[in-house]
Amino acid sequence: MIAYKAVKGDFSLQGKVAVVTGGAGGIGEATARMYAYKGAQVAILDTKDTVLKVAATIAEEYGVEVIGWTCDITSMDDITLVVKQITKTFGRIDILANIAGYVDLERAEHIDMKCIEQQMNVNAYGVFRISQQVARQMILQGEGGKIVCVTSQAGFIAIDKHVGYTMSKAALIGMIKVLALEWAEYGINVNGVAPTVVRTYMGDRAWSGKVKTDMIEAIPAHRFAEVDEIAAAILFLSCDEANMITGENLVVDGGFTIK
Ligand SMILES: NC(=O)c1ccc[n+]([C@@H]2O[C@H](COP(=O)([O-])OP(=O)(O)OC[C@H]3O[C@@H](n4cnc5c(N)ncnc54)[C@H](O)[C@@H]3O)[C@@H](O)[C@H]2O)c1
Repeated sequence: MIAYKAVKGDFSLQGKVAVVTGGAGGIGEATARMYAYKGAQVAILDTKDTVLKVAATIAEEYGVEVIGWTCDITSMDDITLVVKQITKTFGRIDILANIAGYVDLERAEHIDMKCIEQQMNVNAYGVFRISQQVARQMILQGEGGKIVCVTSQAGFIAIDKHVGYTMSKAALIGMIKVLALEWAEYGINVNGVAPTVVRTYMGDRAWSGKVKTDMIEAIPAHRFAEVDEIAAAILFLSCDEANMITGENLVVDGGFTIK
């Protein structure tokens, strides 16, 4: 059962331990920063070594414990080890933000299977690997938890050259629903946040020149999203304020997919 907890609307994470994958930059770093601002202790995971420095900077800025770990979510060994270390360091895990992701754009008639497999491996299997390990820890603790996954508008609409990415994000959206159904009995909420284009390394790589100006024109808000706007949606789904929401995919797209 996902228990009712009275809330005031302050979206506090005081006393919570949160794990953020892909936290060395972009949406992940913005989310780690917002979690720290709301009082959580944060474990940041990323393949980049800079994750240690990012964690130290956030810890100093907000005066909470934030630790960085290098971890590749395509490696079961990395995940098993890091989840053990996080649990040992902080004593528990209450929140998992699955933000690490990978994109490689190519038209369907030319794309190499390896390119599709890599996107599946990070965006779908990788998210499942760590969600399973973390959920086992949450189940052991017996106090529920929150899992929030960054999906994409590409998970439910067609975008040119996105076949591999769309396959992986559509799989992730399906996975979220099944995990939400199965883990509600342990008090674990599982949700997604589906952004439009966000101004990050990944967003800039995928959208430049004419496709960028055409896309901005097509989004009713007439701009791309900023990282804090996505982090805010992730924060909401990580709080007790969202206890009655599970299996949902919250679209943050300036209206792009309403047509
Ligand atoms: N930027 C966009 O336009 C956009 C739009 C929709 C969805 N998304 C999704 O948002 C999430 C974050 O993307 P971003 O825009 O911040 O990108 P980003 O490239 O700025 O950050 C992604 C981070 O994930 C890390 N990472 C990649 N593979 C990893 C792995 N195997 N293990 C651990 N860490 C790994 C990278 O090192 C990087 O720090 C992704 O899941 C992406 O698919 C992004």
